[in-house]
Amino acid sequence: MAKIVISGGVPLNGEVWISGAKNAVLPILAATLLADEPMSIGNVPHLHDVTTTMELLGQMGVQLVLDERMKIHVDSRQARHWVAPYDLVKTMRASILVLGPLVAKYGSADVSLPGGCAIGSRPVDQHIRGLQALGAKVSVENGYIRARADRLKGAHIVMDMVTVTGTENILMAATLARGTTVIENAAQEPEVVDLARCLLAMGAQISGIGTSTLVIDGVERLHGAHYEVQPDRIETGTFLVAGAITSGRVLAKRTRSDNMQAVLQKLEECGAEINTGADFIEIDMKGRRPRAVNIDTAPYPAFPTDMQAQFAALNCVAEGVGVITENVFENRFMHIQELQRLGADIRVDGARAIIHGVTEMTGAPIMATDLRASACLVLAGLVAKGDTSVDRVYHIDRGYECIEEKLSGLGARIRRLAN
Ligand code: EPZ
Repeated sequence: MAKIVISGGVPLNGEVWISGAKNAVLPILAATLLADEPMSIGNVPHLHDVTTTMELLGQMGVQLVLDERMKIHVDSRQARHWVAPYDLVKTMRASILVLGPLVAKYGSADVSLPGGCAIGSRPVDQHIRGLQALGAKVSVENGYIRARADRLKGAHIVMDMVTVTGTENILMAATLARGTTVIENAAQEPEVVDLARCLLAMGAQISGIGTSTLVIDGVERLHGAHYEVQPDRIETGTFLVAGAITSGRVLAKRTRSDNMQAVLQKLEECGAEINTGADFIEIDMKGRRPRAVNIDTAPYPAFPTDMQAQFAALNCVAEGVGVITENVFENRFMHIQELQRLGADIRVDGARAIIHGVTEMTGAPIMATDLRASACLVLAGLVAKGDTSVDRVYHIDRGYECIEEKLSGLGARIRRLAN
């Protein structure tokens, strides 16, 4: 398996261009199944998860062309095979996002159960419950979710907990339902907002976007549109932490700061100087060692769970003690034992990781277990003395476009070794 080797100790300094948001482009690609006309999507990141989603849609009969400017042209009018098979779903849980659009548009969907993953059991009961509320007949058999419906009808749904893709599935399904759907306790993540805005461009009628109550008036059809995906706030945050952990200066371009205030606040708490503009965020540590911060993950607009591992790495070399509490997923500390191999002083107590900052970590061979854990380990390698090799980097390629090129551009000594 490919690995990434980092020779730590270099304060990063430079400019990095942020790509389109993975967790926005995936539901937006699923939403193209709802359109009666061709569509195009811009600012698409070059990620393995995007390739997987294109493969999944292609298997259904959707025609997709990726042009040289990372724009995807999609025509779903020939979609006939309304199935998401296990061999694809097992590699990317977000495949479940085709469930709502297929049932709403074609009245039929056979989607493999995603199964668990490294960070948790990841049930999908809210997705199923929501579609049943909209009138779909849903059964789970032989590892597949089988959903059938004549025409969905609007309903008043209160989510049992905040779920991002659960909200997205029901939102997409409701756009073609007969009547009005209200989704209460909806996720407010910026990626849900991006999906909703794309659906509006396609002719959907949605209000309450960005709030915890979405109201959707179903329409007969959705037309084509062009939609530019928003910048990836988690990739942005990851590169800002790279600047903080190395006591350097990073200018993130083609991004935005209005949807990541919780992260910027924590970076300022750790001693960073943050400067923002319409399409950039700059972090400057002025050569100072970061101070430890306490983190409590929760749904947006609170601190995002997808930035938890990156701040765990930061706390490992920060001044003082930082407590990280993971409230969203039940097993999102897989990176901790790998950080301990680099000399980090961390104690896990249930959902909390208590981290005593050390003045130096030393490089070692370590292993990635999931997407954000792998980013955390690369960040730790940037500051650990000597060489750190991160194995199983296929995890990182799912969510970060050309991460070693981007980090090299900031001055990091980093290279990828094939198998
Ligand atoms: C989305 O996953 C993101 N993925 C995740 O990003 C992110 O960590 C997560 O939201 C939380 O922000 C995409 O958008 C493709 P949830 P999702 O449903 O929707 C429980 C990354 O690194 N739950 O919001 O699967 C669930 O177990 C990935 O980019 C149920 O119990 O997460 C969890 O504890 C990792 N039943 C909590 O809700 C359900 O039916 C939140 O999960 C659904 C969820």
